[in-house]
Amino acid sequence: MHAALKESFEQAGQGHVFRFWDRLIEEERDALCAQAAQIDLSEVDRLVKELVFGDGAHGVDLSDLAPAPYIPLSGNGGKADDWAEATQLGEDALRAGRVAAFVVAGGQGTRLGFNGPKGTYPVTPVRKHSLFQVFAEKIKAASTRYGKPIPWFIMTSNLNYEATVRFFEQHAFFGLDEDTVHFFQQGLMPAVDYDGKILLETPGRIAMTPDGHGGSLRALVRSGAVAKMEEAGIDVISYFQVDNPLVKCIDPAFIGFHLKAESEMSSKMLPKRHSKEKLGHFCTQRGKTVIVEYSDMPDELTEATDEQGNLRYIAGSIAIHTLSRDFIKRMGGNDVSASLPFHRADKKIQTVTDEGHPIKPESPNGVKFEMFVFDALPFAQQPVILETAREDDFSPVKNAEGADSPQTCREDQLREYTRWLKAAGVEIDTDGAGLPAASFEISPLFADSERTFVDAWSKLANPPAITEGLVIE
Ligand code: UTP
Repeated sequence: MHAALKESFEQAGQGHVFRFWDRLIEEERDALCAQAAQIDLSEVDRLVKELVFGDGAHGVDLSDLAPAPYIPLSGNGGKADDWAEATQLGEDALRAGRVAAFVVAGGQGTRLGFNGPKGTYPVTPVRKHSLFQVFAEKIKAASTRYGKPIPWFIMTSNLNYEATVRFFEQHAFFGLDEDTVHFFQQGLMPAVDYDGKILLETPGRIAMTPDGHGGSLRALVRSGAVAKMEEAGIDVISYFQVDNPLVKCIDPAFIGFHLKAESEMSSKMLPKRHSKEKLGHFCTQRGKTVIVEYSDMPDELTEATDEQGNLRYIAGSIAIHTLSRDFIKRMGGNDVSASLPFHRADKKIQTVTDEGHPIKPESPNGVKFEMFVFDALPFAQQPVILETAREDDFSPVKNAEGADSPQTCREDQLREYTRWLKAAGVEIDTDGAGLPAASFEISPLFADSERTFVDAWSKLANPPAITEGLVIE
């Protein structure tokens, strides 16, 4: 069996992957072959031709772009009746048990530089609860409210799968029923050098990396998650990223707009803070909805303004989507006419010399291939783009310091709690940046929105004073 595999690599011009074969012990040979067997050599060949040597190496198609239309927030031009109707529709779907939560948690979190799966990062201001715990409690709160357990699908990579599952076990699944939490692994792709040759990380191991958040569509199908959903009567999937504790993991209005439009994939948008904000742009292109990454948009487009002086390309993507199950099934299946494109990312990839000595490159030495989930949008029927309020939905932890860091995220959580308290009639002093003097925390199990907070607070016989370290739970 090893011989046939090696032969297929030879034929594909990738035989060098086995060049240290004679020095490997049996277990190492088996492990190398197990890795090699996962690689689709014809896919690698196509990607090398397209993305390493071909036109795909030179950027994206920017022809015929226009700003995409979106549904504005109620109070910002949207119709209150439409929002109320959508909320009702979404709540009906939740009560009927049609909705699952889905987090993509397979990234490597290199910018944050945290040791461990990013979802285990201690993110809340007082108790330092992890990102996973925040999501678990939001999902639990919604399950209780709508009287149906909301299954939670969690995509990891092979690199962080075990640590993620262990973390949930150590924390008794944060009070969720273990049977409703489903972990699965995303696919891997080999990294190649600039000659298109698959890189070895060590003499006995191929440099394989997760295939991007877009790999989630394939992985949902291949892991059997979609089949599980089908069995359970789930047809609406609420997709979010692991780094954003503010996200409404379950948002009835968003689900309702998606269902009403019979959309296959819906997305939340925010007006960009400024032209250089690092969010992808919602655009239309020849009748399709597309997202163009900030790094691919030229200044003349990002800085263009309308007659009122507003940015023309104002709609930024925050990677929150609602997906229909059948759409995932179509996009994640074997139909090549409905598959996501791969993108090229030039990276420093650990590899070995011809003698087998390790090399840690100082500058990019090769290419990784990744899929982006938003590339599914042009394939979707009736895509809906819905405006959301940044302060209620988006504060990611991406970097160790500066913008989108643990500190900015902690402050955004505090601002949200403070707004909820003020809405409940509590007087609380804040500084010019909207921050209270005391650090405190509201558990998602007490309230997960302004409306539920005001309601729960009004029922407290002895509401606590807001002091340093207070936890409202
Ligand atoms: P990012 O683009 O922020 O990447 O992922 P990252 O790997 O987490 O962080 P950096 O770039 O190394 O600092 C956005 C979301 O997509 C998930 C991440 O876990 C995060 O929720 N993701 C990313 C995957 O699930 N798989 C991937 O292959 C890549």
